[in-house]
Amino acid sequence: MSKATDELFKNVISHAKEYGFVFPSSEIYDGLSAVYDYGQNGSELKNNIKTYWWKSMVQMHENIVGIDAAIFMHPTTWKASGHVDGFSDPMIDNKDSKKRYRADQLLEDRIAKYEAEGKTEKAAQLQQEMDDALKAENLPRLKELIIEQEIACPVSGTRNWTDVRQFNLMFSTQMGAVADDADVVYLRPETAQGIFVNYLNVQKSGRMKIPFGIAQIGKAFRNEVIARQFIIRMREFEQMEMQFFVRPGTQKEWFNKWKETRLKWHLALGTAPEKYRYHEHTKLAHYADAAYDIEFEFPFGFKEVEGIHSRTDFDLSQHQKFSGKKMQYFDPELGEDGKPYGNYIPYVIETSIGLDRMFLLTLINAYEEEDLSTEEKQDSRTVLRLHPVLAPVKAAIFPLTKKDGLPEKAREIMDKLKLDFNIQYEEKDAIGKRYRRQDAIGTPFCITVDHQTLEDNTVTIRYRDTMTQERVPADDLEKIIGDKVSW
Ligand code: GAP
Repeated sequence: MSKATDELFKNVISHAKEYGFVFPSSEIYDGLSAVYDYGQNGSELKNNIKTYWWKSMVQMHENIVGIDAAIFMHPTTWKASGHVDGFSDPMIDNKDSKKRYRADQLLEDRIAKYEAEGKTEKAAQLQQEMDDALKAENLPRLKELIIEQEIACPVSGTRNWTDVRQFNLMFSTQMGAVADDADVVYLRPETAQGIFVNYLNVQKSGRMKIPFGIAQIGKAFRNEVIARQFIIRMREFEQMEMQFFVRPGTQKEWFNKWKETRLKWHLALGTAPEKYRYHEHTKLAHYADAAYDIEFEFPFGFKEVEGIHSRTDFDLSQHQKFSGKKMQYFDPELGEDGKPYGNYIPYVIETSIGLDRMFLLTLINAYEEEDLSTEEKQDSRTVLRLHPVLAPVKAAIFPLTKKDGLPEKAREIMDKLKLDFNIQYEEKDAIGKRYRRQDAIGTPFCITVDHQTLEDNTVTIRYRDTMTQERVPADDLEKIIGDKVSW
């Protein structure tokens, strides 16, 4: 990361705290590693992102419905899904510094370093060796590579490492009053399994016909070995996932459709297309026959925001095997041979986006330190150019002064608007200062009530992006704001 982008990222993090977007969790106790709380503006922004996703996935698709499954699930769920045996990262400890690392991450960092130095051959060779070791689950080889790399290019001056071990990322706890091994339950590491175990309940109760989808927004928990880059890698985070159930053999077509549809969803917010790219997985998870990430260019490089996975019939087949319950769907439609497709376990295309990563992307994309200096004076402002539908506060209302009935008039106007929009009332400080505070949280409209308002019921509306102002009838505000912030 260059010095300028590093500084920009630090500024975004401190801005997020100063303006009530994101706080370190339990900060008075010095925080909890990789856990964050969303403040008054952060939770509004987060809710707006959720609504944007929910409306475009559920409301706009007749064949997609939403559910809200519990975080706790029967422990066999995670045996069937493969998480108990396979959801782990290779971990290594440095005995001197007592620091814990993800073995693959250490090597990835070294590969990135080689790439940055233009040593592409070395980078490719190490990548290949690491991939081979990971594929063969050869943990001693991973340790060897780490040591070799330290010999080739020492970083910490120490080679005193433990062996590499697999570390399961699921958090577990005990259900019920009496602790017993049989009562171990997990905090779900993905929301997807809540959809799989409910797929027939939804299909039958909603009389859904294939192809159809089930969407869900909810918390997921992973005991990440290393936490990095603010809310990019958290131990408690939120996912917005949709599982789309299709006829076997049609998965490629649906995979391509969802891959394109999801990128369009991102771009519809006005983000520059060059900020996004697809990344194709060459190493596929055991359950997948195709996988792409949608990556966004954060200040620290391109990072995954969303995954589109063709999960075959793996999950449903596993649940059928472990539960002994039939997971088949009866498809009455006629195939080319004139006979019904009949019973089969559907194939699944998954779209899975991290809400917190989407939140950070939105914040970084919107954040601007704008130089407003003229020949006469130096000036600047920090503005969040959020899409109006995502802005936490849609409009702020300011009485010009605290007297002459202006506060009462301003509140009267606010009362008419607040049923439809999140409005903020502010009467403290000079108008200019109040504008700056609203710019900093991304409020698209500031409305000033002055003495003329009392005479002709007009107000001044000031636009965040252009900073221009115009006089409009107070009765037009609902339409002016609504046109920009309604879905
Ligand atoms: N059901 C598929 C699944 O969970 P994943 O690639 O592990 O796939 C999907 O996660 C998305 O969830 C990622 O693209 C990322 O945006 C988000 N995510 C995963 N781990 C995360 C973490 N520790 N903190 C924040 N977001 C995370």
